[in-house]
Amino acid sequence: MADLTNKVAIVSGGATMIGWTAAQALRDGGAKVVLADIADEEGQRVAQDMGPDVIYEHTDITDDKQIDACIAATVERFGGVDCLINVACTYLDNGIDSTRDEWLTALNVNLVGAAIFAQKVVPRMRERGGGAIVNFGSISGKRAQPGRMLYAVSKAAIIGMTRNQALNLAADNIRVNSVSPGWTWSNVMRDLSGDNRAKADKVAAPLHLIGRLVEPDEVGATVAFLCSNDASGLTGTDIAVDGGYTAMGPEQTVDQVSKLTG
Ligand SMILES: NC(=O)c1ccc[n+]([C@@H]2O[C@H](COP(=O)([O-])OP(=O)(O)OC[C@H]3O[C@@H](n4cnc5c(N)ncnc54)[C@H](O)[C@@H]3O)[C@@H](O)[C@H]2O)c1
Repeated sequence: MADLTNKVAIVSGGATMIGWTAAQALRDGGAKVVLADIADEEGQRVAQDMGPDVIYEHTDITDDKQIDACIAATVERFGGVDCLINVACTYLDNGIDSTRDEWLTALNVNLVGAAIFAQKVVPRMRERGGGAIVNFGSISGKRAQPGRMLYAVSKAAIIGMTRNQALNLAADNIRVNSVSPGWTWSNVMRDLSGDNRAKADKVAAPLHLIGRLVEPDEVGATVAFLCSNDASGLTGTDIAVDGGYTAMGPEQTVDQVSKLTG
């Protein structure tokens, strides 16, 4: 387990399964955690379930003042900030037909919200002698998918932003990395499948070398590792927690060459 003793982390999107599972991994490593989200009922319930080392703060990441307030509340409650995990996202996407308003809304949440949260947390990290930021990319930022545009482009941008943040913040001893999950058991997968895990795994199986969905705690463990001193050599990189989704090519796992000779 990653050692996060004495560390304080903020997790945007902390009210959803992937967010709170990452928060759980951070807490289990010894960190104090603030869940920042707009889903207040869920966020408060999750924080309460996780005990006194985890609190919930209503934070709309498209609103600079709310980001400031979240950071201030974190410092007041836990004494500083060492880690920021940018999980929050929107799936707003009308593909090629997306309007300007939709583009701007999606990028505001998925990209700019994460960028400004990082910018605003940096002074607090400097006070602590450094820190770690983990952004959320996705397989969707690396491969085209039917019907998608805004989400995919924002996730590709996150991966690019991560490299540039890493370069700009290296002198402050702040490491910046991203994780890019494959299809992961999550609120979204639960809702889309009608809470049918077996069905979701069956659909995901041919797309992932591991033959199933990624578990949220597999993503959470990677987040906790990236926040820990064990990852001191990693910055500006993306870790594909995607069960082999992007390792596979168009030939998938089938011996296509044998079709030539067969
Ligand atoms: N679910 C998957 O299979 C999968 C795959 C790859 C990557 N991801 C990434 O994992 C992360 C979580 O995805 P998810 O599927 O659990 O999504 P989700 O929609 O369940 O969760 C998103 C969370 O962000 C919050 N949020 C939305 N707008 C916000 C705002 N303006 N301010 C603050 N919080 C806001 C929502 O309330 C919600 O709790 C995302 O970054 C997503 O891109 C998910």
